[in-house]
Amino acid sequence: MRATIALLPGDGIGPDVVREAVKALDAIAQRFGHQFEYRQALIGGCALDATGNSFPPETEQTVLAADAVLLGAVGGPKWDDPRAADRPERGLLALRKTLGVFANLRPVRPHPVVRDTTPLKPELVEGVDFVVIRELLGGLYFGQPSERRMGPAGREAVDTMFYSEPEIRRVLRLGFELARSRRKKLTSVDKANILATSRLWRELANELASEYPEVQLEHVLVDAAAMYLIQRPASFDVIVTENMFGDILTDEAAVLAGSMGMMPSASLAEPTNGGVRRGLYEPIHGSAPDIAGQEKANPIATIQSAALLLRYSLGLEAEARTIETAIDEVLAAGARTADLARPGEPVIGTKAMGDRIAAAIIRAR
Ligand code: IPM
Ligand code: MG
Repeated sequence: MRATIALLPGDGIGPDVVREAVKALDAIAQRFGHQFEYRQALIGGCALDATGNSFPPETEQTVLAADAVLLGAVGGPKWDDPRAADRPERGLLALRKTLGVFANLRPVRPHPVVRDTTPLKPELVEGVDFVVIRELLGGLYFGQPSERRMGPAGREAVDTMFYSEPEIRRVLRLGFELARSRRKKLTSVDKANILATSRLWRELANELASEYPEVQLEHVLVDAAAMYLIQRPASFDVIVTENMFGDILTDEAAVLAGSMGMMPSASLAEPTNGGVRRGLYEPIHGSAPDIAGQEKANPIATIQSAALLLRYSLGLEAEARTIETAIDEVLAAGARTADLARPGEPVIGTKAMGDRIAAAIIRAR
């Protein structure tokens, strides 16, 4: 296969971790005889510095021409001025919108090593295996008006939570479909006791449920969901929720995965004729500017994101599994970046972790 992959390393540790994911992709290409062509482009703070725009037109062209996009992270204290007209995060939202990636899949399946590092009781993370589907193009992130202004009582600000029926329905449908292919349980998370958008969400979920009789649908309020994620995480199979609830709950879920450095994500658009989906693949962690370029970042979330890219946008399931197995092997053999190590345990750097995983891919049978 020939495929074009856009690389958007971004800011902070973004370049550190994307470099290692490319190593893994190159190992896959070598091992399976594919040709991956990479096109690098700017996004976020580095794009602002170079062009004055967090999502420059050249980047837009590059991502639209690619089969899939692999992103590192954006942001940093340098660009944190709340009054700035453009910010790194705006670039990320513009990228998501441009690609039409309405569903953000965040799988949570703690690797056995996590039992050693979890701040939770180890038996609690036993058997945890769920996917959060976060709606990615609506809600408070995009609703208008969103502004700061002067009102009768002085400074005021407004954000708008808006959802239309098609926006809710397409992400719920993906939830039902994913649940049907897994353990057939779908948890829809909302705040229907307060929000009109949530009541519409719940109504549409109930309507769609009749098309998926084999899927068991439950509704959970977001505050309770935050609690159940820690109390009974193994009870979840697929969770589907609106944009900001998903943003918050998946950082919480990262604790179950052992580290933010172990949480990949896949953001998917509507399928094309061939059934493949254009996608944006990124670790859920931020740019961690304090450790950028210091060989301290865990590249696994980005390497796992590359596996999701192979699976969902290129249809290369065996190749995706090869990466996932390689990660398992390397962790089982004791390789630990700082975020995964117990006190006193030897630690390896970003590049060494990437090298070991690439070597395990080449060795794979
Ligand atoms: C995430 C991040 C982003 C978000 C930020 C960086 C804009 O927190 O992908 O979860 O809020 O969507
Ligand atoms: Mg987030």
